[in-house]
Amino acid sequence: MELKKIQDANLKGKNVLVRVDFNVPLKKGGGIEETYKIRSAKATVDHILSKEGAVTLISHLGRPLEQHKDNLGSGIESMGEFSLKKIIPDARDILGVDIKLISSCDSNVIKKSRKESGDENRVFLLENIRFYKEEEENDENFSADLAENFDIFINEAFSVCHRAHASVVGVAKNLPSYAGFHLQREVENLERVKNYPEHPAVAIIGGAKIETKLPLIKSLSDNYDFILVGGKIANEAIDQGIKFDEKVILPFDFADADRFDIGPKTIDKFIEVIDQAETIVWNGPMGMFEKEPFDRGTRKILEAVIGSGAFAVVGGGESIQAIEQGGFMDKLSFVSTGGGAMLEFLSGEKMPGLEVLE
Ligand code: 3PG
Repeated sequence: MELKKIQDANLKGKNVLVRVDFNVPLKKGGGIEETYKIRSAKATVDHILSKEGAVTLISHLGRPLEQHKDNLGSGIESMGEFSLKKIIPDARDILGVDIKLISSCDSNVIKKSRKESGDENRVFLLENIRFYKEEEENDENFSADLAENFDIFINEAFSVCHRAHASVVGVAKNLPSYAGFHLQREVENLERVKNYPEHPAVAIIGGAKIETKLPLIKSLSDNYDFILVGGKIANEAIDQGIKFDEKVILPFDFADADRFDIGPKTIDKFIEVIDQAETIVWNGPMGMFEKEPFDRGTRKILEAVIGSGAFAVVGGGESIQAIEQGGFMDKLSFVSTGGGAMLEFLSGEKMPGLEVLE
């Protein structure tokens, strides 16, 4: 897949709209649980500023309209818990730039706010784009209005590239558009494990929602040697009596009666397979890793993946949290910011946010 790249864009003196994914887990008392998605945008922001471009960031946080579908009449104010205001202190620290929130994605408000701030060149962040129903509808007028104040669009949010939304696809049709640095790395690394895995190739699939993981298990069965399945999806597959190719290994013992984690014999078998791997791709934890002692399976498998020396690509929101908690971020070949996007890319599904950058 040949994407247009940020390094080919002439950014000097340009107003650049950058789609980022600041949809990060929030701590109860304020602040954010996990910073990887924000850190991933830093190289792109630094590059634009170094080329004397002006940066405006655009992101979603959660699914506010889905959560508030019964009281939409009360407007954006009622959805305050999804305001990107909460992310700003962490984003400032991580990106090392002063960020000002613009409370709306309306082009007139954006123009006015930038003028009033007295410094049109500082970094701005638009309020949660998912406060607008037109975002998910990829509405043409809404997309054109979003593009109104900008010269260039950069997509730095691989994790939403499976969504045909206005801030991913519609706006890219209205502006010269390019892939950010991290997005390029996502595509390179995921293409490598999808299309040219070195053998033995081992996939590890866990987490929840078996229906979202079945297409991936099926498509990986073609060119992977082993597919190790754990987490809630393994329980769902066993309960539903789903039959798999013989490359697929399901857990055969559990840590506890509720099957919150894979058991010691399954861990040993999985480690034996992982030890021989040249390529590993992993999405989703092996158990309820956020609650001790049910983190054991995920931790042991993670240690084995790192110890194997294989080319290892790991992704999915919960997996990123497990990796950060263990301090393993730098020990993996690549960590994908994509949850659903990683699954869909590896399953060979259409990726509208990437197609528009080709
Ligand atoms: C993610 O967390 O995977 C992305 O931010 C996409 O979120 P979504 O599934 O709500 O589109």
